[in-house]
Amino acid sequence: MRVLIVLTLLAAPLTAQAPGPPPEAVAELPGAGRPVAIEAHQARRNALLDRIGIGVVVVRAASQSDLERLVVQDNDFRQDDYFFYLTGVETPDAWLLLSVTDDGARDVVLYLPKRNPSREQWTGRKLGSGDDAVRLTGIDAVRELELDDLGRDIDIAVSRTSGPLYMTDPAREIGAGSWQGRLKNVVPILDRMRLVKDSVELAVLRRAIYITTEAHKAAMRTAHPGMYEYQLEATIEYTFRNMGADRVGFPSIVGSGPNSTVLHYDVNRRQMEDGDLVLMDIGAEYGQYTADVTRTIPVGGQFTARQREIYNLVLNTQRAALESIRPGVTVRELDQVARSYLARNSGNICGTQSCERYFIHGLSHWLGMRVHDVGDYSLPLEPGMVLTIEPGLYIPSEDLGIRIEDDVRVTEAGYEILSIGAPKTIEEIESLMQSSSRPKTGGSGP
Ligand code: GLY
Repeated sequence: MRVLIVLTLLAAPLTAQAPGPPPEAVAELPGAGRPVAIEAHQARRNALLDRIGIGVVVVRAASQSDLERLVVQDNDFRQDDYFFYLTGVETPDAWLLLSVTDDGARDVVLYLPKRNPSREQWTGRKLGSGDDAVRLTGIDAVRELELDDLGRDIDIAVSRTSGPLYMTDPAREIGAGSWQGRLKNVVPILDRMRLVKDSVELAVLRRAIYITTEAHKAAMRTAHPGMYEYQLEATIEYTFRNMGADRVGFPSIVGSGPNSTVLHYDVNRRQMEDGDLVLMDIGAEYGQYTADVTRTIPVGGQFTARQREIYNLVLNTQRAALESIRPGVTVRELDQVARSYLARNSGNICGTQSCERYFIHGLSHWLGMRVHDVGDYSLPLEPGMVLTIEPGLYIPSEDLGIRIEDDVRVTEAGYEILSIGAPKTIEEIESLMQSSSRPKTGGSGP
């Protein structure tokens, strides 16, 4: 059963917008993860070596969690982001060594742990060194990992260059080598690269986001008074997994009534009532990349007049920010656009002061392998960057919180909303909710 699930996940096409029956299973090594987009990963390794000029880079994979010691449900294996970015390989405890000598010769070596058949009976089949690994990863030199040999190889690589030895975590360096004084952190270089997504990253992100917008639609079709927040969460996360998502990119936030005003509420235990809004801030993770899309809907299927006026103000604030997205603009400038829109257009909706005082978080964050992805926020936008645009107003005295969040790709000409599939206007949301066969009341608790 488990193997069948894994094969289905492996076979899911990265670029397709709609889930169809999986094509033929392409995985020959189930435990090895999804097929590697070989050329894209090669291009990333070359781009990294271009950036460092000369030197050596060592990147370590994540380790398998110890389920006896840790909280089991939070510890399925997830590859280290930097290692995954450069290899696409989902094998635990692997290492990558890249080097450029002073005369420009490049070398890339992948080290994979020796396979252990009795351990694999517990943890599943792993990718070992050998011809299969070369073919599946596109890396010509794949060696069996022996830490002593790795240390020796690092020494040799370092002796062939006058450049630094870069590591993703220099404080965790292995052993004591002649290179100790030349250690540098490669993370700032990789973070800069990760800010601009290549076509493979965008295809995977589109899939994660598509799954998430489908989950929003499923939630809109089922939300009703009497339902518990966790039941809506279950609808959402069922949709994620049913469509091949690997996990949630962050704990699902399903906050109704007073909980809609709590930014990172993820307890999800309240029973929802007619007249409530429910704020759903959710993201499926697929292929190591996560979506992050928020919609706020009326539990009863129809916004009240008060909810409508606040909702439309948030929606129009988002539109103003979106229309300002283009290469060269900074995230801080977009945030300012949103705040000044609120300052100018609140009328008396929030009393004598502008509604801006209820916008208590930033407008945007980078999105990618992490929900708050890596990258410098002072950099101007470039085509290929992906960020969220998420204005929100939170008025605890009215139990009223509204956030509208989309995932946006910066293009040459402006922007593309990647999460366009999730209904967003009042008309779209009410129409979907009212045309579905949602129960009008009821819900069963624990
Ligand atoms: N979507 C959760 C967050 O951005 O913090």
